[in-house]
Amino acid sequence: MSLIEQLTALGADGLASIAAADSAAALDAARVDLLGKKGRLTGILRGLGALPADERPAVGAAANRVRTAIEDALTTRKAALDAAALDAQLAAGTLDITLPGRARPIGAQHLISRIRDEIVEVFCGIGYTVAEGPEVELDFYNFTALNHEPQHPARSASDTFYVVDRSTDAETWTGPEPSDVLMRTHTSPVQIRTMEHTKPPIYILAPGKVYRRDVPDPTHLPQFTQMEGLVVDRDVTFADLRGTLDYLCREIFGSQVRTRFRPHFFPFTEPSAEVDVSCNVCGGTGCRTCKGTGWIEILGCGMVDPNVFAAVGLDPEEWSGFAFGLGIDRIAALRYDLPDIRMLVEGDMRFLRQF
Ligand code: PHE
Repeated sequence: MSLIEQLTALGADGLASIAAADSAAALDAARVDLLGKKGRLTGILRGLGALPADERPAVGAAANRVRTAIEDALTTRKAALDAAALDAQLAAGTLDITLPGRARPIGAQHLISRIRDEIVEVFCGIGYTVAEGPEVELDFYNFTALNHEPQHPARSASDTFYVVDRSTDAETWTGPEPSDVLMRTHTSPVQIRTMEHTKPPIYILAPGKVYRRDVPDPTHLPQFTQMEGLVVDRDVTFADLRGTLDYLCREIFGSQVRTRFRPHFFPFTEPSAEVDVSCNVCGGTGCRTCKGTGWIEILGCGMVDPNVFAAVGLDPEEWSGFAFGLGIDRIAALRYDLPDIRMLVEGDMRFLRQF
């Protein structure tokens, strides 16, 4: 076959393979095969040197015609493939504006958050501010600084979730001993953290989650929510504590509610008391909710122990104060007469929607 014939065949072949290319990649492969440095056109032109000089111009001209034809076909095919790809993309992304929109259900505050906010609001109205502390806490803040003696039962491994970080290499770990790190068992460590960096007078509330190794049952959860209160000022008395908590209970349960202070013990308050409110369900005559007593315990409280002041470097002769801690889940259960406190955390929408 003469070079001219070879060129003619290449032209026909080339146009066919370009027409057959059905993707940008296939088209590029065809281009390389036809016009590339090691492509077929180059291959044919290598034979040019062997021709007599007077035949070369005609072959050169034919080669140029074939090259131009192939280049034109490549350009046209590329444009067609691009347009087809764009069409496909547009078709796939078509937005049918006649479809009705997707309804997004409107959420609502969880019962616990709502009661928390309600209590915060009551206290903000009388000058308190909100303080926070970590849920993963150090033994020092959770127990030691709060005057818990080393033998205190709450410090036992069966009562408290100690945090042991197994991912840490014991040899390179420079933080606290793993056994000094725990899930806080109450919000009282926020008392210490606040007094550490705030000069009295202090009037704070500290809401948050707390953890105890309790098996869930109708009245217990291993994780629940507390609200701590702390007041540090000059000449604070037990009467201030009583007045404050009476006010709180009336704001939450209504003006008909009665309160009862029972002597109790907490390591970090002295004297200490537990506070009961008259049962909201039976009005105090005795029912299933109050286990027939007419009263329901909702919080612990007391006057800040001098040892606690000493632990944070405050002079107990100069400063006095009270603290209280209440269980928000309990209050929710009481206020809405929930038969089982676990309902609060099960996430069952049929239950939650009722409030
Ligand atoms: N921290 C105590 C508890 O969880 C409650 C409490 C708080 C008692 C503040 C007295 C003062 O049981």
